[in-house]
Amino acid sequence: MSYEMILVENRGAVCLITLNRPQALNALNSQVLAELIEAFAAFEADASLGCAVITGSGEKAFAAGADIKEMADKPAADFFNEDFFSGWTSQIVKTTRKPWIAAVNGFALGGGCELAMMADFIIASENAKFGQPEIKLGVAPGMGGSQRLARAVGKSKAMDMCLTGRMMDAAEAERSGLVSRVVPLADLLADALKTAEIIAGMPPMAAKMNKEMVNIAFETTLDHGLLAERRMFQVLTASEDKAEGMKAFVEKRAGVWKGR
Ligand code: CAA
Repeated sequence: MSYEMILVENRGAVCLITLNRPQALNALNSQVLAELIEAFAAFEADASLGCAVITGSGEKAFAAGADIKEMADKPAADFFNEDFFSGWTSQIVKTTRKPWIAAVNGFALGGGCELAMMADFIIASENAKFGQPEIKLGVAPGMGGSQRLARAVGKSKAMDMCLTGRMMDAAEAERSGLVSRVVPLADLLADALKTAEIIAGMPPMAAKMNKEMVNIAFETTLDHGLLAERRMFQVLTASEDKAEGMKAFVEKRAGVWKGR
């Protein structure tokens, strides 16, 4: 597929996806979503790829939100009948079993913050700014902002962000646990790609199961989570990559993975 609103580039085992509407601060319209669904499906299907990075073009924004101009005159019935925004979770988050990282350069507001939070983790540049300013538009987050932000930073900060619409800078985002680390803007892409390369170099089944295990922590009780974790660990012990990984450790060499 050819893309108009995003750029997709495979660099070795890493897929780099760039939101490419800098003139609109990479606002997320329906075409961006459709193209991202295609790009994530292609990433997931390509066995040579092990991790993806999503970022925004330009230095100013990762994404400044869902496209307000697209939504401004849309009747409420259309939002409901199309189940507007449902595709982000159902066709990207739930169908992407391989790990992916958001490299947030600049504004990540509304849907932009929500897209970043859909990723497995966030690396932010020093100029990154996160926010859920939907309240100022007379609405509320619609792509997971109230839910994922509350889980990431806790009730008090999530309420503060959603009710005031204020932005959180990169330092506050790191302190709050929203992002895993902050790097200078000039280093952001290299850092995210290097991190993605490390992940792509891991045994693929173990990478998928580690991701699944952490996600289960947000969906279930501690008892069930611990049980699921043990079962996944036990399943992985049957893999050829486990045999190779432990043998390689003893032989003091790097493992060679089969993905089975
Ligand atoms: N949708 C559509 N266009 C947008 C946009 C968005 N979310 N954000 C910015 N743009 C456009 C602007 O309209 C402008 O286009 P024109 O040059 O054609 O006028 C261009 O991008 C540059 O933006 P600004 O001139 O506003 O740039 P700035 O530096 O003065 O301000 C900003 C930057 C503070 C991020 C400001 O653009 C802004 O507040 N944007 C909107 C943020 C927002 O409210 N996001 C939430 C959207 S709703 C949502 O996401 C719902 C959900 O839960 C999914």
